[in-house]
Amino acid sequence: NSEKLSSARFAQATDAFVEVFTASVDFDQRMAAQDIQGSIAHATMLCAVGILTEAERDAIIGGLTQIGGEIDRGEFVWSIKQEDVHMNIEARLTDLIGIAGKKLHTGRSRNDQVATDIRLYLRSEIVQITAQLTRLQAAIVELAAQHADTIMPGFTHLQVAQPITFGHHLMAWFEMLIRDRERLDDCAKRLNVMPLGAAALAGTSYPIDRQLTAELLGFSRPSANSLDSVSDRDFAIEFTAVASLIMMHLSRFSEELILWSSAQFDFIDMPDAFCTGSSIMPQKKNPDVPELVRGKSGRVTGHLVALLMLMKSQPLAYNKDNQEDKEPLFDTADTLVNCLRAYADMVPHITAKKANMYQSAKRGFATATDLADYLVRKGMAFRDAHEVVGLAVRLGLETQRDLSELTLAELQGFSPLITEDVFGYLTLEGSVAARRHIGGTAPETVRLAIEAARQRLV
Ligand code: ARG
Repeated sequence: NSEKLSSARFAQATDAFVEVFTASVDFDQRMAAQDIQGSIAHATMLCAVGILTEAERDAIIGGLTQIGGEIDRGEFVWSIKQEDVHMNIEARLTDLIGIAGKKLHTGRSRNDQVATDIRLYLRSEIVQITAQLTRLQAAIVELAAQHADTIMPGFTHLQVAQPITFGHHLMAWFEMLIRDRERLDDCAKRLNVMPLGAAALAGTSYPIDRQLTAELLGFSRPSANSLDSVSDRDFAIEFTAVASLIMMHLSRFSEELILWSSAQFDFIDMPDAFCTGSSIMPQKKNPDVPELVRGKSGRVTGHLVALLMLMKSQPLAYNKDNQEDKEPLFDTADTLVNCLRAYADMVPHITAKKANMYQSAKRGFATATDLADYLVRKGMAFRDAHEVVGLAVRLGLETQRDLSELTLAELQGFSPLITEDVFGYLTLEGSVAARRHIGGTAPETVRLAIEAARQRLV
């Protein structure tokens, strides 16, 4: 088989099934643009240090540019025989420009080449992901701004706990995404180190200029150790870990949206354009987008575990195992960007059913803690106040009334410390307004948080 890679060493052609089994071109062709970008920088550097002539360099750049066009137009013929994206492009280059094409691989290996391609690929994916994440943050902040004083029940154990504002709840989501954004930025910083020059594993004896290649590709510096450069996939694992965290956050948002849009909660209306019906039950409106996103969080976390398992037993340096890094990584980036996009598009169209939220907070004795705090301010010890309010709640439950609907005489029966002013504290409005410290749920505090968030986003 004259097309076999390094064929001179082999007496036998590759087994037909093994050829298919070991090829990665079906999926790694996705990094074609990065492969070309890396090769152009490598050729430019080889010329700068005198390894290629200017004519050879120009022929290589011209050929690679033409190949990029062929790929973009869908004209490029990918071949399993050429195994992967790197060999396919190099073979086509030699077809196009002859001997100069065969010189491109001087001082380079597919091991440092692929490590570079993946980093370039992830770097640009992170830009797309960050853009969608920022759109989602902006959507959340603007929805929060409409609901800085919309009262809803806050939950612990999924039981009504204390009244909060819907704006405050939304801004909790915003905070999670800020941390995610920082993690993405951090991951992008660490992956922006250039492997080229490590060659197969030990570096190269040519007088290459790695600093120049790094600058041409926008990397912050050349990697410090050639063995590490070709065998490190930490950056891919780190990215997938960050993606898993973001998906975990989206999954929690999803869970809440699904619950809130059920008839049992009935706190929000999900936009029709993001829901679907049932093929059998005519009344149904299902929150498909949040459900799918919740499901896809498992898929991304699966990829994280797959990458960790892929790496954990590999001796240094490069091993073919690493070819298995790409499908989980590509799918992680695609899944993440699509989920963020769906959410950024959907969130502005979520409507709050304010009256239902309000009623639900009232029914749940959400101001019980406020009554206890009131008694403490009047001199009672907190544990005693906790007990007294428990008795008041029991009366409310038995007579189907909220604490604010009990009479003053009834309340005074529980403690003589209670006077007429208690009703100012038993309302939902009074309860949220009182929590005006940094990070609290008071409408005025939420408005400040929203303003600060808007500043961060510009
Ligand atoms: N397709 C390979 C990969 O994804 C490229 C590197 C191959 N290197 C090698 N020595 N076989 O890792």
